[in-house]
Amino acid sequence: MDESTFQEAESGQNERLPTGSPERSGTYYATTPIFYVNAEPHIGHAYTTILVDVVTRFHRLKGDDTYFLTGTDEHGEKVQKAAEAHGVSPQEYTDTISSKFRNTWNSLGIRYDEFIRTTEERHKRVVHEILQRVFDNGDIFYGEYSGLYCVGAERFITEKELVDGKCPDSDHPPEYRSEANYFFRMEKYRPWLREYIESHPDFIRPERYRNEVLAMLREPIGDLSISRPRSRVPWGIPLPWDEEHVTYVWFDALINYYSALVSKDLTERYWPHVEHFIAKDIVKPHGVFWPIMLKAAGLPLYKHLNVHGYWLSDERKMSKSIGNVVRPLELQKHYGNDAFRYFLLHDMSFGLDASFSELALAERINSDLANDLGNLLNRTLGMLTRYRKGVIPEPGTFEPIDEALKTEFLELPRLVTAEFDNLHFDRAVQAVMEAIRKANKYISDTQPWLLAKDDGQAGRLDTVLYSCVEALRCASILLEPVIPQKAREIRKQLGIKRIPYELASAGSWGLVPPGTQVQPGEPLFPRIDLEALKASFEDDEEATEEVNQEPSPAKAAVGEAATQESAAKGRVAAPAVTATIVTATPSEPKTQIAIEDFTKLEFRVGLILEATAHPKADKLLVLKVRLGTEERTIVSGIRQHYQPEELTGKKIVLVTNLKPVKLRGVLSQGMILAAEDAAGHLSIVTLDRDVADGSEVR
Ligand code: MSP
Repeated sequence: MDESTFQEAESGQNERLPTGSPERSGTYYATTPIFYVNAEPHIGHAYTTILVDVVTRFHRLKGDDTYFLTGTDEHGEKVQKAAEAHGVSPQEYTDTISSKFRNTWNSLGIRYDEFIRTTEERHKRVVHEILQRVFDNGDIFYGEYSGLYCVGAERFITEKELVDGKCPDSDHPPEYRSEANYFFRMEKYRPWLREYIESHPDFIRPERYRNEVLAMLREPIGDLSISRPRSRVPWGIPLPWDEEHVTYVWFDALINYYSALVSKDLTERYWPHVEHFIAKDIVKPHGVFWPIMLKAAGLPLYKHLNVHGYWLSDERKMSKSIGNVVRPLELQKHYGNDAFRYFLLHDMSFGLDASFSELALAERINSDLANDLGNLLNRTLGMLTRYRKGVIPEPGTFEPIDEALKTEFLELPRLVTAEFDNLHFDRAVQAVMEAIRKANKYISDTQPWLLAKDDGQAGRLDTVLYSCVEALRCASILLEPVIPQKAREIRKQLGIKRIPYELASAGSWGLVPPGTQVQPGEPLFPRIDLEALKASFEDDEEATEEVNQEPSPAKAAVGEAATQESAAKGRVAAPAVTATIVTATPSEPKTQIAIEDFTKLEFRVGLILEATAHPKADKLLVLKVRLGTEERTIVSGIRQHYQPEELTGKKIVLVTNLKPVKLRGVLSQGMILAAEDAAGHLSIVTLDRDVADGSEVR
């Protein structure tokens, strides 16, 4: 989806946005780092920005007065050098890359309130004011400095910090420098900062980063060189009292968090609530320089410094030279914004590193979004359409099983809020998904397809269907910050677009008006063909082999024979894919076989994840079946015997080493076992105890 489509979707939605409500409960101001414009955005930058988008959307949902700032860091040697390398002026260069960041965030559906660039006049003005204030207070002096400087990290490095002779932040060797600069008396504030962090345990969080900063403060930190000679680095903000020097890029950049508010006259409203989100690479400037700068300038400190880990690609730090940089827009093009956001939130524990892989993203989409969430919506809409002409019914009496589902969901807003407050974003998402799984189980347990057959159970069926709708409504609210477009789509398909969706409404049951007409649409999250994806990672020839999954010649012969034999008998609608193993009137006895023949067959337990009608054959169902870590598609001729929603969640027995066959265009990778009685009724073979899917049946 491109930027314009996103904006259309945003502005085209006519639900009441949960912003600006008079009963605002709090204030929340969150920032991302401002990114260097020497390179284009990758998923690391996208993660912090998406995370802050999710967090601020969550606070808006709560009714908080919320503000979200991001932007670009455009001065300094690093940017100057990048512009020179591209043969353009620094201004032209920064204009181009800064707009790439902005466009990327717009395309990713990120709703920032303000985008600041450090080359803007409004920012420079505030940097001047703060510098002058600190200078006037006597905390800046002129002096000589020699030491190791890293251009990548744009700071001096102490000998102790070196890792294998390289800067710990940029992984590049620093260079020796000696020059006359202005210095900020940082060391003077060290005891104060140490004491402050010790007495404010959650000022820097998680704890590991607090400990990191405390360790830095145990030793002298020296004074900070805050200027560069203009003759060497012209690309910067000149010092207000000495035009021959420009401001050191970190002293300039950190002030953005404050200057963006000053220019909009919002400091009083938001500054006391500021929450910074950064990754572990820039803990020192944020955990040491910035609080001391604020203190010296007489400004209140930020509330929290929230530090996350790194996304690694192929288990390594992303870098252009290794060639493992992951670009967010490429993923978004294939998988959509919401699925990508969901993965990033679900798969990283805040504070720790996480590994990115496209396969893990696709697997997450299939398991959580297509299966768990998508299935709940599909099953609910399918049953409403089939049993109630698409109209949401008035519920009858709530039985304990319905009350249990209700309680499960109504406890979520409190739980999710606590997880958000503790930076456990992954757990917040997982808690909602757990409730969704319970709602799917609720359907399997209440068996609405049986209730539908009995007129005396109409009220009971109404309650079950209504409960499913409410579960989906509540889930859509709680997932709104993470998957905003799909959350809206859920409500649209349920026909409940116009009812309130602030967080509080996820804490009440029964808000959907009975009589609402549902509007089923496209599946929320189309399943990703994992085999095709894996194949796309290989070269074309290997890919073809992988999709066909050729079994060994011996196995293929058995599979082929079984397939052709049952097809010839024509006992079930699609015999090629359903083996009938027990019949009340046995068919012709087959020739006896030796155990060696039997052992050529492979039977395994499969879990049905999803069942849908075959697009081209009205007697066939297409099943997605999980066998442990593997997923398969099985085309089966049982459509006249089973409703799709009745099958999801069932554990069945499959013949798994048959040669795959295409049935009306869909590749079937196995065969279900089912019994057939004399009247032609089918019953799928299931298990009488819970056994892990993928287990072998012998
Ligand atoms: N310009 C400075 C920040 C100044 S803030 C006053 C800077 N810019 S940066 O472009 O290098 O961005 C660093 C930030 O990008 C990290 O702190 C983090 O937010 C994000 N990430 C960059 N790579 C990342 C990963 N591989 N994984 C997660 N986040 C990463 O430093």
